[in-house]
Amino acid sequence: MKVSYHGHSVVKIESQGKTILIDPFITGNGLTDLKADEQKPDVIIVTHGHGDHLGDTIELAKRNDSLVIANFELATYLGWQGVNAHGMSIGGGYDFDFGRVKLTPAFHGTGLETENNEIIYLGMPAGVLITLEGKTIYHAGDTGLFSDMKLIGDRHPIDLAFLPIGDNFTMGPDDAAYAAKLLGAKKVVPIHFNTFPPIKQDPHKFTSMLENGTGQVLEAGEIIEL
Ligand code: NI
Ligand code: MN
Repeated sequence: MKVSYHGHSVVKIESQGKTILIDPFITGNGLTDLKADEQKPDVIIVTHGHGDHLGDTIELAKRNDSLVIANFELATYLGWQGVNAHGMSIGGGYDFDFGRVKLTPAFHGTGLETENNEIIYLGMPAGVLITLEGKTIYHAGDTGLFSDMKLIGDRHPIDLAFLPIGDNFTMGPDDAAYAAKLLGAKKVVPIHFNTFPPIKQDPHKFTSMLENGTGQVLEAGEIIEL
């Protein structure tokens, strides 16, 4: 399969004729190489309700009849917007036709800002484990460091992990390097940095803190064959 990074927290997986997009924040994402009107995802996975993760989900899902996977409250909200959504909760897994998805904890917020200056809280933020073609990919979503990352790694051998390093809203580089150790992931790619001034980081400094050969900085559009 092909796994590619597209700036901020956007990850695309192409496997067995299916395209899966995680956190498709394309419009307004100054670091992405993607164009929203060219995307044809079969599946969209959304880690939480913040705009820099929900992104273009509603428009993409409506246009492509994509299946959207998110926590139960966010999925219910998206269903009301006319989207085909599948709700899950943390700790639960489900076997979809493209592979297995399991939601993991994430320590963060999940309030969606409305045009009326209101914040709607849409369940719990999540990370996601995706197992397909015998490989497991972990996308941590937005989260601080927590010791149960060790449990996630013990229960699921992780081939590829996407970890936020931006600091301020999520783990910074030091905590993310510790997270990589807890998870025991074979390969770690930094995400959620440099998109906005408060999350400016040097991703190479982060990968230099990891065990030799584990870290890999991906440019927007760059692919890992898994
Ligand atoms: Ni967030
Ligand atoms: Mn975010």
